[in-house]
Amino acid sequence: MAYKIAIIVGSLREGSINRKVARSICALRGDNLDCSTIEIGDLPLYNQDLDDNPPEQWVRFREQVGSADGVLFVSPEYNRGIPGVLKNAIDVGSRPYGKSVFDKKPGAIVTVSPGSIGGFGANHQIRQAAVFLNMPIMQQPEAYLGHVSDDAFDADGCLKEGPVKGLVEVLAHSFAGWVETILRSRALLAEDSAHAAQSKAAEPALVKG
Ligand SMILES: Cc1cc2nc3c(=O)[nH]c(=O)nc-3n(C[C@H](O)[C@H](O)[C@H](O)COP(=O)(O)O)c2cc1C
Repeated sequence: MAYKIAIIVGSLREGSINRKVARSICALRGDNLDCSTIEIGDLPLYNQDLDDNPPEQWVRFREQVGSADGVLFVSPEYNRGIPGVLKNAIDVGSRPYGKSVFDKKPGAIVTVSPGSIGGFGANHQIRQAAVFLNMPIMQQPEAYLGHVSDDAFDADGCLKEGPVKGLVEVLAHSFAGWVETILRSRALLAEDSAHAAQSKAAEPALVKG
């Protein structure tokens, strides 16, 4: 069974290297990942006053993420932090209170930059939000992809053979394993609890006195 993965890219730039890396991850589908990139550029800024009557773009975004089995964040770093457009998407998906579409979804975080520290700051800010969002985030491999330029991609925008492609392959494979581990263990635990409840119901009632 292929797991449905919502990819959220933190750059709106047409020639975005993050978008190209996301596209390359999508191309590696042999690993049981059925990926779609979810658009976030049209989401109105989050405003709690709109919770009772949300804009259609929020509804669409929440449905798209909500129906996915896992979430993959692929983002640049802006001023050592999360780009505003991505933070807005995270805030939109996290509300109304108690109805977050991110809750319990397995996830992974990839940051890509031409700079040498590979978006480390943004990566960990996303990670910090994911803690509050109750998302089990893949710990390893960490993915701070630095020194990435347009040269890493072919004319179709896919990664050429090379170290970045090698890293992305390892990452996609590990993420598929992570999603499977989380979802299967959760399903097995639910099955165990259901069996335990059935056995308890079938026990003869204790006669008191
Ligand atoms: C507003 C702004 C702030 C940036 N800040 C950082 C930064 O803190 N660290 C970094 O590595 N690159 C930074 N950059 C450079 C981006 O990594 C670079 O533009 C990258 O190509 C953006 O990703 P994209 O190609 O996916 O749009 C910044 C770029 C912009 C436009």
